[in-house]
Amino acid sequence: MSQSESCIRLIDIHKSFGSQEVLRGVDLDIERGQTTVICGESGQGKSVLLKHILGLVRPDRGRVLVEGEDITRIKGAALNRLRTRFGVLFQGVALFDSMSVFDNIALPLRERSRLPEKEVKKKVLASLKMMDLEGSTDKFPAQLSGGMKKRVGLARALQLEPDILLFDEPTTGLDPVKSHDVYRLFFETQKKLDYTSVIVSHDIPKIFNLADKIAILHQGEVRACLAPEELQRSRDPFVRDFIVRVMGSAHSSKSELSVE
Ligand SMILES: Nc1ncnc2c1ncn2[C@@H]1O[C@H](COP(=O)(O)OP(=O)(O)OP(=O)(O)O)[C@@H](O)[C@H]1O
Ligand SMILES: [Mg+2]
Repeated sequence: MSQSESCIRLIDIHKSFGSQEVLRGVDLDIERGQTTVICGESGQGKSVLLKHILGLVRPDRGRVLVEGEDITRIKGAALNRLRTRFGVLFQGVALFDSMSVFDNIALPLRERSRLPEKEVKKKVLASLKMMDLEGSTDKFPAQLSGGMKKRVGLARALQLEPDILLFDEPTTGLDPVKSHDVYRLFFETQKKLDYTSVIVSHDIPKIFNLADKIAILHQGEVRACLAPEELQRSRDPFVRDFIVRVMGSAHSSKSELSVE
């Protein structure tokens, strides 16, 4: 892979909290325009890894390159500028309860762009349509189902047309049908908007064939980062064991989700 295809590169990241070594030399290349799924058991450091990519946590050692710029070495305005390239959807979605669906989605535009209100309205209405939320414009988060909240969160994360989307456990708390819907939406919007996405997910095997690459974080290292078909063919005993443990034999495919 040539350097120019890498959107994000984590190079030899080490991170400890007190005496607990969480990341012990993570190397990971995330290619532009692709979907990389980071999986691994609970407590292995997946969320900590995502926070390194955003510059929310600084490594003890190592570098995090975002489009060639080392996010561990920049601060203040430069860091904020780099962060505007990211859309982020954390586990709890974090909508503002006192704001309507419309206002939640409009927030990034109102705070961070200089668009006139008329343009804001046009953009928000277009994304409500894309996310199939047209009937919920004036509702408040408490009136929405879990799946609808995720869709509002995704719409909001996409408002500033980020180059990179980071999702931490996007389907937590959703039933299997709803999480299926959320993934379908992810892949459809990615096809349309062509961003790079990094998804931390426990939904293996569901997400298996939808990812371009699957990175397995284990004992502080990325033990494998392979395309789904490469993972399945791998002879590495660790990978084979992982496949058997988490996959069983069933997994969904893009055609099953009618993504292609
Ligand atoms: N700010 C922090 N201070 C101290 N310890 C932390 C901090 N953030 C994370 N940790 C520890 O680092 C380890 C990895 O946490 P992390 O949240 O990244 O796990 P995870 O892989 O995302 O797990 P899960 O799948 O349950 O979300 C945990 O043991 C956690 O307690
Ligand atoms: Mg986590």
